[in-house]
Parts: sequence; C-alpha cells; structure tokens
Amino acid sequence: MSSTPREEPAGRKRVTLMKLAERKALGEPIVMITAYDHPSALVVEEAGVDLVLVGDSAANTVLGYTSTVPVTVDELLMLTRAVRRGLATPLLVGDLPFGSYEASDEQAILTAQRFVKEAGCDAIKLEGGGTSVQRARAIVSAGIPVMGHVGLTPQTATSLGGYRAQGRTAARASQVMQDAMELQDAGCFSVVFEAIPFEVTDLVMQQMEIVVIGIGAGPSTDGQVLVLHDLLAVHTGHVAKFVRQFADVRAEMLRGVEAYADAVRSREFPAPEHGYSIPPEELERLRARPPRRGAPAYDW
Ligand code: KIV
Repeated sequence: MSSTPREEPAGRKRVTLMKLAERKALGEPIVMITAYDHPSALVVEEAGVDLVLVGDSAANTVLGYTSTVPVTVDELLMLTRAVRRGLATPLLVGDLPFGSYEASDEQAILTAQRFVKEAGCDAIKLEGGGTSVQRARAIVSAGIPVMGHVGLTPQTATSLGGYRAQGRTAARASQVMQDAMELQDAGCFSVVFEAIPFEVTDLVMQQMEIVVIGIGAGPSTDGQVLVLHDLLAVHTGHVAKFVRQFADVRAEMLRGVEAYADAVRSREFPAPEHGYSIPPEELERLRARPPRRGAPAYDW
C-alpha cells in the first residue's frame, strides 16, 4: 500500500501549512477542490490547485448514497489512497466521516491517525462546533493538522433543518461565528465556512487568523472550495445555489458512451487499426491444423 506523495513536478513546490498561511497574509486566493479517484487527482494536480479534499461528499458523488451519513472510514480510506497516489504538490486533506470521531478524543485520534498512516493525508477535516472543538484539539495535540467545518455541516444536516444556509438570524450567526473562533483556538490550521450569508462571513473574517476556505460563504474568505463533480457537472440532480458549473462533463460522457454504442451496433467499431495481426505463415499453419474439440492438443 503506497501512501507517499508522487515526486514534485519540475518548478512546482509542495504546498505546506506555512505556505497557506503566507498566502493568507499576502491576500492571495487559495484554491481547494475535492477529488475521489486517481485520474481526477492527476487532473487537479496538473491544474495546480493548493488543497485537495477527499470529502465525505464521495458518499453522494461516487458511491451512490443519498447522504454523507453512511460512508465508512474504510470506504473513504480506499478513495483517499487512490487520490494520494495521484498527487505531488497540493496539501491532501482526509475527511473524517460521521460516527468516526464524535464518541471520544481517543476515537477521534485513532481515526485521524488511520487517514495519515494508511492514506498519506497531510491533514484531516471534521465537522461542527461543540464537542468537535474538543476532538479537534485532541487530534492537533496528537500532531495531526486539523481543518474545521462550520455553517452547513452535511453530516448533521437533519438537526440543522436540512441542507440549507446557516446563520440567517443573529442568534444562529453568532453560533456559527463562535464555532469558528473556538476551532481556531483549538489549534485548527484552517476552517471551512459552508453556506452562510456573506455579511456573516465578513464579520467573522475580522477575527480569523487561520486560513478560511469558503463554499457558499462569499468572496471574503481566504480561499474557495467546490466539489469536483458539481463544478464539472458530472451528475444530474439538485446542485446547491453556491455551485457554478465550469464544464459539462456528464454531457460529454453521455455523448461518448452513446457514440460507442452506436459504433458497435453499426459494426463500424472495431476497425482494422484497433486490432492485432498474426504473420501469414503462422496463420497458414494454424489453419492447416486447427484444434479440434475433444482431440489431444498438437505439439507445435
Ligand atoms: O465533503 C466535502 O466535499 C466537503 C466540502 C464541501 C468542503 O466537506
């Protein structure tokens, strides 16, 4: 099992926590994206993103679950290892799934260690404030960098009233802000703000010394993250308001598969150039003595 990053491509340096902090200080936008497999990892590597998250959104995007709740540590570890094998430069963040860190600090540390040891993650992400703050603190004390996640936290969407924007009343906004600041104080190197009003982001940004990555949280965060399958439009179905589709990959995949099916059905594919040849004299020998069912094999 390989969990080491690939060699850095010429002219590109590995992204470190220090580099991200420098970017924030210089006001240079940070690009984060999700990936769930090796070919996507190669693409996001080549595109030069800064951070790659193997999100528990894999539950919906690639595993066919209807929420992020059922995805297991083992399922995410397998995907994360595939991504690790494709990355050299971006910082790789593993996502602790629902039920893998909430019960105790010990559980949280053991799960985080699996993502580092078994999948080569540089950091892990966990969701929410409250007890998650203490879990984050414990994982940081165990030497593993932690990214928090506040606002809309899909693992607990049911108790948040569904997949909807958070912090739209003064009381709820103040809770989101409090969670973000507590995660910062717990030692997180970064926090994701998901689906909160821009004005609330602007307010809390004044207190944030660590790197803040937004998704549906406006332009004032230090960077942005989107789910790869959303921004490429790999799937059909509902997409959140904060998603912009930068390509229509599903349409292109469908076009390709339909064209293949048509070509097979019309016998246009395969053409001679898609096959292999046998020297004519070998073919002659074979034709002269073809194997017969039930007869002993020839000794060529
Ligand atoms: O799982 C995920 O993809 C995420 C991002 C939306 C931040 O948590």
